[in-house]
Amino acid sequence: MSDTPTALGAPAARREGRDKVTGTARYAAEHTPPGCAYARAVPATVARGRITEIDDKAALAVPGVLAVLTPRNAPRLGDADDATLRLLQDDAVPHRGWYVALVVANTPEAAREGAAALRVEYAAEPHDVTVRTDHPDAYTPDDEDEDQPSHRERGDAPAAFATAEHRVDASYSVPPLHNHPMEPHAATARWEDDRLTVYDSSQGASTVREVLAGLLGLPQERITVVSEHVGGGFGSKGTPRAQVVLAAMAARHVGRPVKLALSRRELAAVVGHRAPTLHRIRLGADADGALLSVDHEVTTYTSRIKEFVETAAVPARVMYPSPHSRTTHRVVPLDVPTPSWMRAPGEAPGMYVLESAMDELAEAAGLDPIDLRVRNDTGHEPDSGKPFSSRHLVECLREGARRFGWAARDPRPGVRREGSVLTGTGVAAATYPVLASPSAASAQALPDGTYRVRINATDIGTGARTVLAQVAADALGVPLETVRTEIGSTALPKAPLAGGSSGTASWGWAVHQACTALAGRLAAHRGQLPADGLTETADTTGTADADSPYARHAFGAHFADVRVDTVTGEIRVSRLLGVYAAGRILNARTARAQFVGGMTMGLGMALTEHSSLDPAFGDFDARDLASYHVPCHADVPDIEAHWIEEEDPHLNPMGSKGIGEIGIVGTAAAIGNAVHHATGIRFRELPLTPDRVL
Ligand code: MOS
Repeated sequence: MSDTPTALGAPAARREGRDKVTGTARYAAEHTPPGCAYARAVPATVARGRITEIDDKAALAVPGVLAVLTPRNAPRLGDADDATLRLLQDDAVPHRGWYVALVVANTPEAAREGAAALRVEYAAEPHDVTVRTDHPDAYTPDDEDEDQPSHRERGDAPAAFATAEHRVDASYSVPPLHNHPMEPHAATARWEDDRLTVYDSSQGASTVREVLAGLLGLPQERITVVSEHVGGGFGSKGTPRAQVVLAAMAARHVGRPVKLALSRRELAAVVGHRAPTLHRIRLGADADGALLSVDHEVTTYTSRIKEFVETAAVPARVMYPSPHSRTTHRVVPLDVPTPSWMRAPGEAPGMYVLESAMDELAEAAGLDPIDLRVRNDTGHEPDSGKPFSSRHLVECLREGARRFGWAARDPRPGVRREGSVLTGTGVAAATYPVLASPSAASAQALPDGTYRVRINATDIGTGARTVLAQVAADALGVPLETVRTEIGSTALPKAPLAGGSSGTASWGWAVHQACTALAGRLAAHRGQLPADGLTETADTTGTADADSPYARHAFGAHFADVRVDTVTGEIRVSRLLGVYAAGRILNARTARAQFVGGMTMGLGMALTEHSSLDPAFGDFDARDLASYHVPCHADVPDIEAHWIEEEDPHLNPMGSKGIGEIGIVGTAAAIGNAVHHATGIRFRELPLTPDRVL
């Protein structure tokens, strides 16, 4: 055992970085088994109705086309909890873009031509894709989750609001948003006898295997799912999506390996998106700015086939104490593509609204917005009453204020002008829960003095391989270079998804435990190791919040500097700064990248990212990166991410909190608050595009 300094926290470079930049890292669509065929899915062209007729003669006549799978001939699938995966099983069309057929061919070009030649007739029915707060079908979902019910009430929020000294009553809205990972969804499937191997672009191969087993009626042992390199997901690859099911069905049907790579334009309809949210928020405070009443009502939509709720009222249960509180979600089922997770689902839109409303309250009460938040700090989670395991929000605000130069700020809105440009600064708080799920891992010491860690973790671009090697090296007390990590396959010990900002905590826990056990055995071992070394395995349980006496959340503070052009209506963010309290930071380099990435996504949410459903056509108007503008280099200013040293013994053996999502939370509010400071106008609909501002 060498006496190396701890590997944890070091800014270790991504281990697969070279493979990625030299193009040798292979993604799901880059596996081409011998004899591989190519598939192209055919989307429905009505927003609601039924297929009445399918004529595949012309498609089958295209040279190279091998098969056309439709609800008439596709393999029957077993049970799927997730109705979005009941693909090609019946004639119902729940939304435009729903897949109604799959064309398989020798080449991608032939598949595409075949898909264009397929004739599908529909009986269209009237559709409705417009969410409204007064929609007659709006309902409050049944509470499956006791921890986080749809509706929660303490005291009498409306009555307390009515008598409060300072009041904010405002409506906000956030449009549909698309995940748009750099790598569109893709899968390659290969059957050998009755064994299936799929390469899938997924955030969690273990779940893909489980779900495929159910759908295909196979024992899990006969399925291998590989997700070795994944180009982002932001939640849209958190559970299996259509591509992997269709590729597996098609490969079985044609008796050859099949690859299905979705085009970016297809993603909006089939991989999930952030559902739009309509908010009414009412905050009431006493003369000193202490909150008396918090009332946050969110209306959103879901699809006809699956209930997904963007739980945007949840952060109002976490952030600020108030004797009276009411938080509610209402959902309207519409003829829309099924929404799903997108980075910080619930928190991202919810904190945009809560933190914008806090800025409004600060103005109403004549308080500095940081001071207002400090006055409403608490050691206990308001709704559960549990003590926070750690909460350093005030420290983040103060450290951010110091670095940003907040003290010199003139609070008056609309008074800083440089020619046609108005400038302003804004602040907002951030929060994200600390989650961890059960995971297994193994650790092996080899006779050559190296170590091998095996776990089915997924690296979606975050540096998971690297940080897990750091956790292992730290637990083993060995140099980082001696540890290899194998991840991204169900052939490895079972592990949960890269999602909910919980990957590193869940996987790291198991890796830490296996390595700690291995270190113990090595310490007792005398002489040469056997040829296959020594191996220890771990099976950790993670943490369920309900079982903990603590409320566990990461916190942060975002600061923004904006320039608003009063002639063009264009808003530019000239500076963004975030300070986080997220437990122990395990890799300074990759952590910084995640914070900056989240803030960049928050910048897009604030200024440019939006989609909408055309009421007549029933489809999204923005389906590619030309119509849906994610921030490009010219949009992204100097972004600084900092963190404070936070020790929290109530988390996991590493003492870490998740960091994948908190960067997006609150960033849009900081920018919106800065725009108000610049202009004196409160815009309450995202994004803040020039047409809204002028
Ligand atoms: Mo994230 S939206 O939990 O992948």
